[in-house]
Amino acid sequence: MKTKIVVANWKMAPNTLEDAKRIWTTTNKSIEKTRNIKLVVCPPDIYLNNLLKNKRSSKIKFGAQDISAQSSYAHTGEIGAEMVRNVGAEYVLIGHSERREMGESNDLVAKKIKEALNNNLTPILCIGEKERDSDGEYLKFVKEEITSAIFSLKKKDLVGFIVAYEPIWAIDKSYTESMNATDIHETVLFIRKALNESFDKDIANSAKILYGGSVEPLNVEKIMSIGNVDGLLVGHSSLNAEDFGKILRIVDK
Ligand code: PGA
Repeated sequence: MKTKIVVANWKMAPNTLEDAKRIWTTTNKSIEKTRNIKLVVCPPDIYLNNLLKNKRSSKIKFGAQDISAQSSYAHTGEIGAEMVRNVGAEYVLIGHSERREMGESNDLVAKKIKEALNNNLTPILCIGEKERDSDGEYLKFVKEEITSAIFSLKKKDLVGFIVAYEPIWAIDKSYTESMNATDIHETVLFIRKALNESFDKDIANSAKILYGGSVEPLNVEKIMSIGNVDGLLVGHSSLNAEDFGKILRIVDK
């Protein structure tokens, strides 16, 4: 059975370290009961160090939600890839739609991916369209997000590359408004085709494609089976420890 990847994106929550520890403890218990999941928890950076000191299941890895594209000192407010790696995180989300919304361009995303790789962090490239038009323009948009992010990378950096597909219109809603599983499957195939065209077949086949956008206990089964994804990127449901436990159990089936 293939190991699934589940990424918990806590975004800008919770507001206290106590709550972060509480979610963390329950999540640890839930993941311990699974057999085939690698869980990447991406808390706000400010909690990373503290949570990393706690005992954790070997199935949990840590990720940051973003890094700076810069490595030099004079960048107030930024957090460098090397710092993130040095506190013990191994993954980083790059190009989340909420960051793109704040002005992050494809060019900056490409720079951040390189910066992550240079510092031994595994990037999780986030892509996804704002809306679906009947002319299929959104497919061009998604393809451009992929191509621009990887065109200058080496093959060795791209084996097992993780792409999180998150249609923006489906984020932070309820399970009834998430993308239907058949459309997810079609998009997964489209992403593999785009990876093949912009790189090659090995890279397309080895890629891990995750779905994100209102994943909840009630839609996860269909997304995993019909959607044919390698895993999930979970936002609001990852902060609800009980729901998240249910999601992990279903993914592990
Ligand atoms: P959501 O968020 O699960 O709350 O829709 C997903 C994300 O934005 O990563």
